[in-house]
Amino acid sequence: MKSLEKKPLLTVTVLILSYLLLNACGGVPEETATNGKDEENVFSVAEVLEMVSKENDVTRTLYTKAIVGKGKLQGMKFDEDWRKDDVEAGPLPALFLRGVATSIQKGPVPLGLYLGSDFPINNANKFEGKQAELFEEIKATQEPKFFYDESQELHTAMFADLASAQACVTCHNEHPQTAKADWKLGDVMGATTWQYPKDSLTYKGTIEVLNAYAKGTVDIYMAYLDEIEAFKNSEKPIIGTKWPAEGNYLPTPEVFLDSVRKISSHETMKALVAGK
Ligand code: HEC
Repeated sequence: MKSLEKKPLLTVTVLILSYLLLNACGGVPEETATNGKDEENVFSVAEVLEMVSKENDVTRTLYTKAIVGKGKLQGMKFDEDWRKDDVEAGPLPALFLRGVATSIQKGPVPLGLYLGSDFPINNANKFEGKQAELFEEIKATQEPKFFYDESQELHTAMFADLASAQACVTCHNEHPQTAKADWKLGDVMGATTWQYPKDSLTYKGTIEVLNAYAKGTVDIYMAYLDEIEAFKNSEKPIIGTKWPAEGNYLPTPEVFLDSVRKISSHETMKALVAGK
């Protein structure tokens, strides 16, 4: 986050305000409050990928702890085959993230997202080549890595994915396909890889990236609620303003996203304004 310290406070404040404003309005208006600076590239791709990665950390932790963790205590099920008709369950955290990535891919913003590891449950998630090399360093330092991927012509950033909840460790260690059965809390279990074609972005481009990510979370969350709608044998949670911590409830997509935004705008702001 060092590079952000050099940004003038005003630039940063305007970005946050536009982001919050856009979120409040629920869309990307033609003109944003950026004093006609729309066309100027103000953020490096590394800075933007760092911001969206922060949003992802909050979303991922919230989903893992508040939905999957607490939901299980209420008897809710989460499964890798959650999309199958005969499986009445929600997506596992990794598949939630895959859902976000798929949604982004279908949209107009050229942002790539991938969750990999050196000891994956699913072999398709195994890092190869340059990313495998850099992952060794990430494991040692937990610091992000940035590089230009010549073969794909994409700017690439990798961020550590930590075993932040006991559920991560238990489920991975006990999974029949696991490549490693001694994960511990706090381990670097993998990394999220983010890719973008350009080396710098305008305000508008930056906000589009953040909004594409947010739309992705809503899309996959709605797909989960659609699955619940079709449950035949399991009790359906009540969908509204309450969370699984309070009983057999799930938040609506709006309530879920609202919480992500409350936590992450704060996080984004802290990171942007204070540096590391
Ligand atoms: C209930 C089981 C479960 C929980 C909880 C869980 N995972 Fe996973 N995770 C999986 C499965 C299954 C996959 C493989 C999904 C696929 O098919 O891509 C996976 C995939 C991953 C991957 C990609 C590499 C791989 O193993 O295929 C990473 C990294 C990962 N999980 C980290 C985490 C972290 C960190 C947490 C906690 C925040 C977590 N997982 C929670 C089951 C779980």
